[in-house]
Amino acid sequence: MKLTSEQLRNKWMKFFSDRGHTPISSASLIPENDPTVLFTTAGMHPLVPYLLGQPHPCGKRLCDTQKCVRTGDIDEVGDATHCTFFEMLGNWSLGDYFKDEMVPWSYEFLTKELGLDSDRLAVTVFEGDSDCPRDTKTAALWEKCGIKKENIFYLGKKHNWWGPAGQTGPCGSDTEMFVDTGKPKCSPECSPACDCGKYVEIWNDVFMEFNKNADGSFSPLKQKNVDTGMGFERALMNVNGLKSVYDTDVFMPIVDKIKELSGTGADNAAEETLRAVRVVADHIRTSTFIIGDERGVTPSNVDQGYILRRLLRRAIRFGATIGLKPGDYSAVANTVVDIYKDVYPELAAAREKIKTEIDEEQARFERTLENGIKEFEKLCKYVQGDTIPGKSAFRLYDTYGFPLEMTVEMARERGFKVDIDGFNKRFEEHRNLSHAGAEQRFKGGLADTGELTARLHTATHLMHKALKDVLNDPNVNQRGSNITPERLRFDFSFGRAMTPEEVKAVEDKVNEAIAANAEITCEEMTVEDAKAAGAVGLFASKYGEKVKVYTMGKFSKEICGGPHAARTGELGHFRIVKEQSSSAGVRRIKAVLE
Ligand code: ALA
Repeated sequence: MKLTSEQLRNKWMKFFSDRGHTPISSASLIPENDPTVLFTTAGMHPLVPYLLGQPHPCGKRLCDTQKCVRTGDIDEVGDATHCTFFEMLGNWSLGDYFKDEMVPWSYEFLTKELGLDSDRLAVTVFEGDSDCPRDTKTAALWEKCGIKKENIFYLGKKHNWWGPAGQTGPCGSDTEMFVDTGKPKCSPECSPACDCGKYVEIWNDVFMEFNKNADGSFSPLKQKNVDTGMGFERALMNVNGLKSVYDTDVFMPIVDKIKELSGTGADNAAEETLRAVRVVADHIRTSTFIIGDERGVTPSNVDQGYILRRLLRRAIRFGATIGLKPGDYSAVANTVVDIYKDVYPELAAAREKIKTEIDEEQARFERTLENGIKEFEKLCKYVQGDTIPGKSAFRLYDTYGFPLEMTVEMARERGFKVDIDGFNKRFEEHRNLSHAGAEQRFKGGLADTGELTARLHTATHLMHKALKDVLNDPNVNQRGSNITPERLRFDFSFGRAMTPEEVKAVEDKVNEAIAANAEITCEEMTVEDAKAAGAVGLFASKYGEKVKVYTMGKFSKEICGGPHAARTGELGHFRIVKEQSSSAGVRRIKAVLE
C-alpha cells in the first residue's frame, strides 16, 4: 500500500489547511430540514446556505471529509467501484478564490501529493450552451499546468454540470479529473464520457455560479463558489494501483471478516460469491453508518429507516447464499466500527445500538420471510403470463412487509417480471390517502416550503426544551429529527410512554413560548463556548470549531445550522398529534403548527 486511508485523509487536510482552509467536521448523514432528499449525498450538501451567501462561522475557505450515502446505483454494487456509502474529500471557496487557484491546486495535489503521472491524467471541461459559456479558461489553465492537449475533452451539460443536490439550489459547470488506466481506446471517439473503463474519475471541481430555480431556469448566485469532491475509496484504489475499492484498507478487514465467517476463503471464488461478499461488505458498512450516525435512525417502513431496512435485508439475502448465519451481520458491523472509530467516534459510541438493531432486524426479517415466501409461492402459481401484477406486489409489501426490490429479485430468479408501474401507482394512491389533508392545507399557499419548514424547525427546538423541562429526566435527548412542510417528527431518548398530562404540558409550554413572541438570535462561537453557555445539541464538532447557537428568548439555546423563524410568534398554534415508541428506549413525537 503506497498510501493508507489515514495518510490520504491527512494529506488532504494538510494541503488545504496550508492554503488557508479551515477543516470542518463531517455533517450528519441525515440532512436536517431538507425534505427533498433522505441522505447527505455530497460534501456540499450541508453547505448549501453558505454557497447561497450566508457567512459560514469558519470562514470562506473550508475542507473536510464528509460521510455520504447514495443508493441510486445499488444494483451496481459488487463491481469494482460502486458503493452505497462513501467518504467525500472536499474543499470550498465560499465567494473567495475561483478557477485561477483551484485548477493549479488540483494539478499539484494529484501529481505531487498523490504522485500520479501527469501524462496519465485526463480532464473534461464544459463545452458551453445558452446557460453558461464554453470553459476555455479552465482548459487553458490545465494546459498551462502540463496536461496534454489531447487529454483535455470538452463535454456538454450531461457530463460537465453538477448540482443542485435537490430540486433547486446552487450548481454550475465543472471540470472532472480522470486517471487513464492505459487500456487502449475502445473507439476513435473514446473519451472520459465513455464507460469502457479506460478512464476512472478521481476528482470533480465544480464552479458554482448559478442557482437552479423551481421552473428549471438558472440565475446567477450572489457569489462565485468552488465546490470540489474526491471519492475517497476510489482515490485510494487509484493511488495504490488496486483493482477494486474492496482491496483498499477501509474495506479489506470487512471483506476478510465476511470470508472468515462464511468460510469462503478462496481468492479464486466464483463470480457470484465474490459479488455476494462485496454486497454484504458494502451494505453492512452503510447500515453501520446510518444507525451509528449522530442523528442515526433504526429500520422502519418510512424514509431513511426504509432504506436502512432494504440495505440490511438485501445484505442478509446475499449473505445467506454464502452461508452467513444470524449473528454474523452484527459481527461484520463490529469490524466496521473498529476501522472507523477514530475518524468517526460516533460509531464507537453507538457500538451496542448498532449490534442490537442489526440482530433484531435480522430476526424480524426471518419471520417476514417465512410468511412472505409462502405468499410469494402461492402467488407464483396463479400468475398469468410472465408478469406479477403491481397489485400483488403491493399486497406483499403492504401486508407482509416484503420490499418491492425483493419481490423483483425473487421473481427474476423464477423468470417472472413485476409490473413496477402498477406497484408505484398503488403506492402513490396509498400515500395520497394519508397525505390528502396535509396536501390541501399546503395548496392553500400561505407560505413557501422554506418558511413552513423553518417554523417547524423552530418549534422543534422549543419542544425539545419543553420535553426536558416537563419530563425532568437528564436522559431526555434528541435522537432524530425530520421535517416536512406539513409536520415535524422528533425522536428522543426516554424509557416510557408519556402520559396525556405530560403531552398537554409540553404543548402548553411551547404555546407559551410562541405567545411570548420572543426574538430568535444566532451567535457564532466555538463548540466549547457553546457548551459553557448551556447550549444543547450535537457536540460532534472538533475542538475549537465554530458553530452557530440559536437562542429563542429564555426558552431555548441550541447548536444548530438553522434556518429559523425570526420570532417565535410566527409559529401559530402548536399541537402534538402523536406520541409513540420508535425503538427500545426511544420515543417519537409528531406535531403540527396550525
Ligand atoms: N459536489 C460535487 C460532486 O459531488 C463536487 O461531485
